[in-house]
Amino acid sequence: MGAGGQRGTMESCWFALRLSVLLCFSQQGSAQIRYSIPEEVNVGSVVGNVAKDLGLDIGTLTDRRFRVVSGSNDALFDLNQNNGLLCVHENIDREELCDGNAACSINLKIVVENPLEIHYVAVDIADVNDNSPMFQEEEKILEISESTLPGKRFQLPAARDPDMTVNSVRAYKINSNEHFNMQIRERGEDRVPFLVLQKSLDREKQSEHRLILTAVDGGSPPRSGTLNVTVTVMDSNDNHPVFKQEVYSVTLPENVEFGTVVVNVEATDEDQGTNGDVEYFFGRELDPDIYDLFGLDKSTGEIIVKGDIDFEKVDVYKLDVHATDKGAPPMSTDCSVIIKVIDLNDNKPEIDVTSLINMVSENAKPGTVVSLISITDRDSGINGKVICSLAQNEPFELKPSFQDNMYSLVTRQKLDRETVSHYDITITATDCGDPPLSTFKTVSIRVSDVNDNSPQFLQNPVELYLVENNIPGKSIYSVSASDNDLNENAAILYEIVRGGGSLNDMASFLSINSDNGHISALKSFDFETLKTFQFQVVATDSGSPPLRSNVTVNVFILDQNDNAPVILYPVSGNGSAEGVEEIPRNVNAGHLVTKVRAYDADIGYNGWLLFSLQEVTDHSLFSLDRYTGQIRTLRPCTETDEAEHKLVILVKDNGNVSLSATATVVVKVVEPKEAFAASDVKSAAKDEDEDNVTLYLMITLGSVSALFLISIIVLIVMQCSKPADYSSKYLQDPNYDGTLCHSIQYRSGDRRYMLVGPRMSIGSTIVPGSNGNTLVVPDRRQTSGEVRCVSKCHVQLHTTYI
Ligand SMILES: *[C@@H]1O[C@H](CO)[C@@H](O)[C@H](O)[C@H]1NC(C)=O
Ligand SMILES: *[C@@H]1O[C@H](CO)[C@@H](O)[C@H](O)[C@H]1NC(C)=O
Repeated sequence: MGAGGQRGTMESCWFALRLSVLLCFSQQGSAQIRYSIPEEVNVGSVVGNVAKDLGLDIGTLTDRRFRVVSGSNDALFDLNQNNGLLCVHENIDREELCDGNAACSINLKIVVENPLEIHYVAVDIADVNDNSPMFQEEEKILEISESTLPGKRFQLPAARDPDMTVNSVRAYKINSNEHFNMQIRERGEDRVPFLVLQKSLDREKQSEHRLILTAVDGGSPPRSGTLNVTVTVMDSNDNHPVFKQEVYSVTLPENVEFGTVVVNVEATDEDQGTNGDVEYFFGRELDPDIYDLFGLDKSTGEIIVKGDIDFEKVDVYKLDVHATDKGAPPMSTDCSVIIKVIDLNDNKPEIDVTSLINMVSENAKPGTVVSLISITDRDSGINGKVICSLAQNEPFELKPSFQDNMYSLVTRQKLDRETVSHYDITITATDCGDPPLSTFKTVSIRVSDVNDNSPQFLQNPVELYLVENNIPGKSIYSVSASDNDLNENAAILYEIVRGGGSLNDMASFLSINSDNGHISALKSFDFETLKTFQFQVVATDSGSPPLRSNVTVNVFILDQNDNAPVILYPVSGNGSAEGVEEIPRNVNAGHLVTKVRAYDADIGYNGWLLFSLQEVTDHSLFSLDRYTGQIRTLRPCTETDEAEHKLVILVKDNGNVSLSATATVVVKVVEPKEAFAASDVKSAAKDEDEDNVTLYLMITLGSVSALFLISIIVLIVMQCSKPADYSSKYLQDPNYDGTLCHSIQYRSGDRRYMLVGPRMSIGSTIVPGSNGNTLVVPDRRQTSGEVRCVSKCHVQLHTTYI
């Protein structure tokens, strides 16, 4: 401010007095001389010629020690003793010197000696605009709420200017802006600036306004000072939270895990601080269930899944979400969240079976409805579309019904309980989802019995070999039939067929246990009178209507050795087997004496007779043929031989326990003449007879050998072909017509063997079978002698091994 002095420049000016002295004088009244200088004039500037103005002689000034004696101010001026000029010695700052007083004058006391004179000189310091207005603060910060109404005034700090009057602050200005202008109030001499709100503030648009307040003084040129005024707009809760979207549409698959984020709603609030802090809440008017299913994070707006989302229960949720700020009062906004649940294939089809019957008759017509089946699937669309099927091999099928997803289970074909009596039908329902879900259900259906099977005999006809002399009343056989039906449809009653001609003529001698089929004979059969007969047994089940079938039983009576040989010749008058034969003494060796004839009613071995000599007086003279019973001489008789010989002949059959008879022949040796006459005729007849016997014997032996051979072969084949084989042999006899007669069977189980064909053997008894052409051999061991021929036909020896 130009207050600094330049003491050294004005050495001519010297003040002895101190400023304080001057100040004493300054209080005094009017000065003799008044000068006026502006402040801040250049050092050295002349204030005035004091000597001249006081009327002092310039030439004496030095001598009279012309000087200023005044306090501290003496340094400001310099008084020249040579020319009497008062000059500015230092820079004069009025504001410093007078401390802002309106009038500022410096009184100088000037002294001259010889004579001592004291003069008072006043120098008025005139103000110069050398100071700019200044603000004390460096910056002013104003906080104004955005809700402040226009017109409100805010005081600003005033600027200070040490200069006086016009040079002090005269006006304030503010940089142009739309919100504020200036108003200046005068408080006495001071001018106080006010900021007036012209237009409402909006923090959200502009939160800070920087203004420059300029204070201008009245100097010429004017000086100015500025203050940065920062208006900070204080927030008020004048903004609603705003959602980014008014409606959030999202999809959510059902069955999502808990904690899955559905959507994150977001609202922003332009306000500041708590006014802009947004919290989220579900709307009050929601279904209470929703609070269990969804959770909303108050602060983030994240909606998460909290419960089971089931499309089948609810397929769309509409949630209202409020966003509220924390201002006072708070402001809030709503948005909608629409959650569409996406169906997943999470439900298996369900099969509901309404059984009409669980039992279907085996004669039910194809198409009989057994059950009604309804299929449901709680899923929708393709996930709920269900395909229903049965296992392929069932005789049932599914027929779609008039209603959707309804089927009837019907029979596809006729059923047979005897084949399958029970069905477990598995129904498979599969939906079309991905992956598809399936359900199985088994329907149990039983097939009820119908009497559609007649009793069945294992074999028909059957052969029964019954040894003669059976005990009357004892069981001889048992028939058995089976029936595949159930319960009473399979309960069988047996009955022997009575009547019906020769077929059943022996039925009256038989009885049957109707429950178990045991047959007993009421009389004893005799092979020698009855060889074979037939009867029929009917088996009837208890169904309604009953079904029946019959079996033919061919009974073959087997021989027992129950007949002893009977001697036919010789027979005496009293019936005993005794005879007398005469032979001439001159007979040669080999002469036929006689032939013992015997008969046995039994057959086979039982009837095969062998002759032997039991007693004889002379063993050297007679022989007996084992087979024919012929008695012949062994040598010619001599004179020494006795005239009468007794022969006891034993005739024995070949039964297991053989039976026998004896015959006694007495041979008398007579003189040749008398003997010849009688024996010539006899021997001629006997020779013929002998020839026949020989032929007969040959055939018998041949046949026996053949049968023996067959037995051997049969045995060998049996050994080689166990357990089951089949072999047959045909014996062609050109004498017969070639018709097939019957078969020959051998059964290993009951050791029976049958030969069929006419005249198989000569040595055995030949009896026609009552049903045709059967030859029966009761025991294998006996085959050689026990063939019975039946009729004239093609001979077939047909052997089956079982
Ligand atoms: C005042 O504001 C102006 C710009 O607006 C800046 O340059 C100046 O430094 C500020 N003064 C103070 C004291 O902050
Ligand atoms: C025995 O069965 C046959 C055929 O099955 C039948 O023709 C006959 O009449 C039946 N006889 C009796 C007595 O039932």
